[in-house]
Amino acid sequence: MPKIIIANWKLNPATLAEAEELAKASDVEGLVICPPYPFLKAAAGVVKKSQLGAQDLFWEDKGAYTGEVSGSQLKDLGVKFVIIGHSERRQNLGETDEMVAKKIAATLQDGLIPILCVGETRAQRDAGETKEVVARELKTGLSLIGNCLPASEAGKLKTPNQNKFGTGQVKNLVVAYEPIWAIGTGTPDTPENMLEMIQYIEGIMNELGIMGTVVIYGGSVTSKNAESFLRHNEIGGALVGGASLNGEEIKAIVKIAEKYN
Ligand code: 13P
Repeated sequence: MPKIIIANWKLNPATLAEAEELAKASDVEGLVICPPYPFLKAAAGVVKKSQLGAQDLFWEDKGAYTGEVSGSQLKDLGVKFVIIGHSERRQNLGETDEMVAKKIAATLQDGLIPILCVGETRAQRDAGETKEVVARELKTGLSLIGNCLPASEAGKLKTPNQNKFGTGQVKNLVVAYEPIWAIGTGTPDTPENMLEMIQYIEGIMNELGIMGTVVIYGGSVTSKNAESFLRHNEIGGALVGGASLNGEEIKAIVKIAEKYN
C-alpha cells in the first residue's frame, strides 16, 4: 500500500490567489491537499496529480444547520478524504467523541475516506494516560460504524440511527496519531513511540473488527525528520501542518515517502 501524505493547511493561506499558488506548487502524486472550505473549488481546478481533502464536515446532508458543510457537498467538489476530530477542533470548538462518531459515519455514508485524528495532551501523557485516551477516541469515534461498543455504552450515543455500517464493510479508514504536544511545536514524537502506538492502535482495530486501516503520524513533520518515520513499513504516511504551506517542502516529504513504497 503506497504511503499517504496529507497536507492540512488549517486556516491558511489568507487569499484565494495564494491558495491557488500553493496548490499549484504542491501538486504531486501521493499527496492529499486539504485547503480551507472557501478554497476547495479553486484547488480542485488547479491540481492535476494530488487528491483533494476537506478539514471537517457536518453529519447531516442538508437542512437548517447554519455554517455547516455536508459530505455530499464536498464530494460534489471532488473531495475524496475528510479529516475528522482534529485536536484543534476538539480543543477550540469542544468537538466531542460522540460528534466525531457521527461525522465518521456520515463520511463513510457519503463514500468519502475519513482521516480520524487521535492523540493525547502533554498532561495526559505525563499522567500515563496516552493509551487510555487513544482507546476512548477510537472506540467512541468508530462506534457508529458497527457494534464497536457494548450495547450499554452505544446506547448513550445520541444518533444510533446512523449505525448503518458493519465494521467489516469499512475498508477505507485512515487513523492519524497526532500527539497534541507534538503539533506545531517543532518537537515530533519519536519513531519508536509511534511504532508502539501503531501496534496498540492496530490491536484496538482488530478488537473492533475493522480491517485494513492505515495508521499515519502527525506532529511537526518536516522534510528533515520525515524519513525517520516513513522508512518504517508500519507507518503508513504523515499528516503535515506547517510544512505543507510550502510547496517545495511538502513535495520533498512526498518524495521521501515514495522511496519506501
Ligand atoms: P504541524 O505539522 O504544524 O505540527 O501540524 C500537525 C497537524 O496538526 C496536522 O493535522
